[in-house]
Amino acid sequence: MKHYCHTCLLPLLLLLAGCGDKQPADAGKPAGVVEQASVVMAEEEGKELFELYCIACHGAGPGHPGTMRLQERLGEEKAALLNRDELPPAYIKTVVREGFKLMPPFRPTEITDSQLDALTAYITAGKES
Ligand code: HEC
Repeated sequence: MKHYCHTCLLPLLLLLAGCGDKQPADAGKPAGVVEQASVVMAEEEGKELFELYCIACHGAGPGHPGTMRLQERLGEEKAALLNRDELPPAYIKTVVREGFKLMPPFRPTEITDSQLDALTAYITAGKES
């Protein structure tokens, strides 16, 4: 019986994620590669969670109450959550856990702490666009 180790799958994962343009400072070190792979996996999970729980209200464009409300309050540039690059992860987590005016809170039974980490990583990552 054959076993496939995680290390063998890492390069493939990195390739699929197409993250060649995002080089952390420690990219040369083996530990950096492992770290980067787990960041990539967290972002994938975060994307799925965002699409499941947040996009209905925070998708880009009209028809999304979160986006519309933030546009009203903070302006066009800060309307879509995924365009924001200044939101501290701790702030995002607090808003998700406690809710914010029209936004409902999400309990750990809906979004676990580790899912919330992944979600936050996704929202705060990949700000090149
Ligand atoms: C039912 C609609 C709704 C859902 C679902 C929702 N939000 Fe919100 N969210 C809002 C609204 C509306 C606001 C703006 C509140 C205000 O300013 O009055 C907001 C604000 C925020 C803010 C604050 C932004 C700022 O500039 O201060 C963050 C962060 C946020 N939402 C993250 C999320 C995340 C992450 C999810 C998914 C887990 C999510 N929201 C799901 C409606 C929603």
